[in-house]
Amino acid sequence: MKTLNVDLGERSYPIYIGRQLLAEPQFYHSHIRGSQVLVVSNETVAPLYLNAVRQALSGYKLDEVILPDGEQYKTLDVLNQVFDGLLSHQHNRSTTLLALGGGVVGDMTGFAAACYQRGVDFIQVPTTLLSQVDSSVGGKTAVNHSLGKNMIGAFHQPRCVIADTDTLETLPERELSAGLAEVIKYGLICDQPFFDWLETNIESLMARDPEALAYAIEQSCHDKAHIVAQDEKESGIRAILNLGHTFGHAIETHQGYGEWLHGEAVATGMLMAADLSRRLGWISALDVERLQRLLSKARLPIVGPAQMSDHDYVSRMQVDKKVLDGRLRLVLLKSIGQALVTGEVPEAALLETLADYRDC
Ligand code: NAD
Ligand code: GLY
Repeated sequence: MKTLNVDLGERSYPIYIGRQLLAEPQFYHSHIRGSQVLVVSNETVAPLYLNAVRQALSGYKLDEVILPDGEQYKTLDVLNQVFDGLLSHQHNRSTTLLALGGGVVGDMTGFAAACYQRGVDFIQVPTTLLSQVDSSVGGKTAVNHSLGKNMIGAFHQPRCVIADTDTLETLPERELSAGLAEVIKYGLICDQPFFDWLETNIESLMARDPEALAYAIEQSCHDKAHIVAQDEKESGIRAILNLGHTFGHAIETHQGYGEWLHGEAVATGMLMAADLSRRLGWISALDVERLQRLLSKARLPIVGPAQMSDHDYVSRMQVDKKVLDGRLRLVLLKSIGQALVTGEVPEAALLETLADYRDC
């Protein structure tokens, strides 16, 4: 078992990463202040892992809300089910919400915790690779709007993150790949040795080798915690964690939530960002090829949807949290291992990239 720390002063918290953590009371107890806990999960994850959590929390007054499964349910409307559960079971301000599931459950539970009685505690128990390496760490919580992804949300840090890597054994292959997109992201934005390691170890990761997965999760959480500690609310460096996301969110929103997985859209978006960086003379064609090869080995898409026009991209990309005074800002690459945010993106170069990465 490995413990990392997200260093945020009085809001600091540990990330526990290891095997067989789910049913162990010790990882939860010191992070729960009151006697009430509301577990939020979904109809896929609850049958697999809720019993283990019940076992760990047997001493608490435990209530449960089971949400429908899917990105299309990450809405304000469905979020009301969590508030219904909290109010009907009379949870007070010392309650703790516990998110058991992937990034959708984690983002929704965190947002509910940020809002309920103006803010209560919550714990992240991520069960997908994507949520273990990214969404459970850093305190971004949100729901989607039909016009824009994650547009309604709050920064609200969890009390701890409990990442039981054994849960990845039941994860569908497509979801494993989606998680690897965010893992690859860390290598690209801030950790060139990790990118090199990923190139060498991608086959082991795809085969779910426990040691390789544990290392990838630890290194990803280490990189994310380091960035979040410098810029909790994204007024600067944290924006680099969104490499590929402006393109990716446009694809997810355009296609209809759930059609493309978040990690799949991010993978294609990262390749587009890399290609645009090459057009600006920052990275080489060889670097772009390296990324394309790695994404392909992770069985991730490397072109956007055929039917998505330039206008579809550009209009969706304008609904992005990085847009400032109407100006599009993108995360691009100076080199593998070094990202930056720029508002200086020539439209012609952007359109060339969109044309070159359209499925045909
Ligand atoms: P997800 O939550 O939809 O989970 C993927 C699928 O796997 C779901 O069907 C889920 O029920 C199932 N599942 C979960 N754990 C399982 C397990 N152990 N075994 C079998 N099936 C399992 O998707 P995700 O990829 O985990 O998260 C994507 C979401 O995270 C998106 O909404 C994205 O916007 C958000 N996100 C947030 C942040 C953040 O910083 N808050 C960062 C990245 C992504
Ligand atoms: N996934 C982007 C962030 O946490 O900032």
